[in-house]
Amino acid sequence: MERGVCSLEKKILEIKERVLSELKKAESFDAIQEIRVKFLGKKGELTQVLRQMGTLAPEERPRIGQLANEVRALLTERLEKKLSILREQEKEKKLKSERIDVTLPGRPLRRGHRHPISLVLEEIKDIFTAMGFEIAEGPEVEWDYYNFEALNIPKDHPARDMQDSFYITDEILLRTHTSPVQVRVLEKSVPKVPVRIIAPGKVYRRDDDATHSPMFHQVEGLLVDKRCTLGDLKGVLLAFARQMFGQDRQIRLRPSFFPFTEPSAEVDISCVNCGGKGCRVCSWTGWLEILGAGMVHPRVLETTGYNPEEVVGFAFGMGVERIAMLKYGIPDLRLFFENDIRFLHQF
Ligand code: FA5
Ligand code: MG
Repeated sequence: MERGVCSLEKKILEIKERVLSELKKAESFDAIQEIRVKFLGKKGELTQVLRQMGTLAPEERPRIGQLANEVRALLTERLEKKLSILREQEKEKKLKSERIDVTLPGRPLRRGHRHPISLVLEEIKDIFTAMGFEIAEGPEVEWDYYNFEALNIPKDHPARDMQDSFYITDEILLRTHTSPVQVRVLEKSVPKVPVRIIAPGKVYRRDDDATHSPMFHQVEGLLVDKRCTLGDLKGVLLAFARQMFGQDRQIRLRPSFFPFTEPSAEVDISCVNCGGKGCRVCSWTGWLEILGAGMVHPRVLETTGYNPEEVVGFAFGMGVERIAMLKYGIPDLRLFFENDIRFLHQF
């Protein structure tokens, strides 16, 4: 019997050592589960050994039984411990792999930019403010009086036909040009000179084709002083044309008619495409029309309270879309207002 006790005790202790050493090497939940089944399971080695208790002498049973229980408890505890270590490691790994690196660069947001009309408007304003012109503004919903009447265009005047308008009432309309700002500024400034302003803004006409839009932009220019000539007007416009379209531009003034200027002129620049030799862009004339201008009509000065015997002035009005089309070589004005991102991104 001595040998039986000995060998059973040895087996138990040996199982304990093997479990502990295998446990050390186990690196996964599956491996630990395998150990549990192999040693502590129903058909496990330790269970098998305990089944042999019956072969022991009755007086030996308690001691070996106690040993077996202690070993089982110890092994169970170690298994659990190893499991919880593995769980902990698993959690760490997950945290690490799922960590958000807040220092990573973000997804780039495409930066917007200004509309080509705004860019050109900005450039026009810069050129004229550098020459001493101030910026003035007027309402887009305008009195017939300022838009026409005070500009020497009475109700039955045929010049109204060229600026077909959107009327709101008989006396109120969407302004058809920026020239009413001339009248508003002069009314406010009288009798002070010099008056030197440009007036950028939206204007409206019943037009709609490749070169005419129902809404477009103009920049008005006005200078009134004690002394001022057509030569001054030409000098200012030449300086503008060269800064806008290049230093080798020429300008020419062609006689024209506006009821609020006398004399009046259409102003052309030498073609931005061919330089004046003649091409498709300038219809083989070598010139491109960019604006209307003239010396302020005495009646406009009088209407606003100035004495046309004492002061004199010039005025001009340009279409901003026209300038932008020439500057960027854009064939159709409607492109500006279709908001096609492929078009807008090119500026
Ligand atoms: C005028 O509007 C005058 N007020 C200009 C002026 C001011 C003359 C001061 C003298 C003194 P006009 O109708 O020609 O003139 O228009 C001026 C410019 O606006 C044109 O040369 C053209 O470039 C632009 N324009 C006219 N109609 C349209 C339209 N429907 N769409 C886009 N641009 C237009
Ligand atoms: Mg015109």
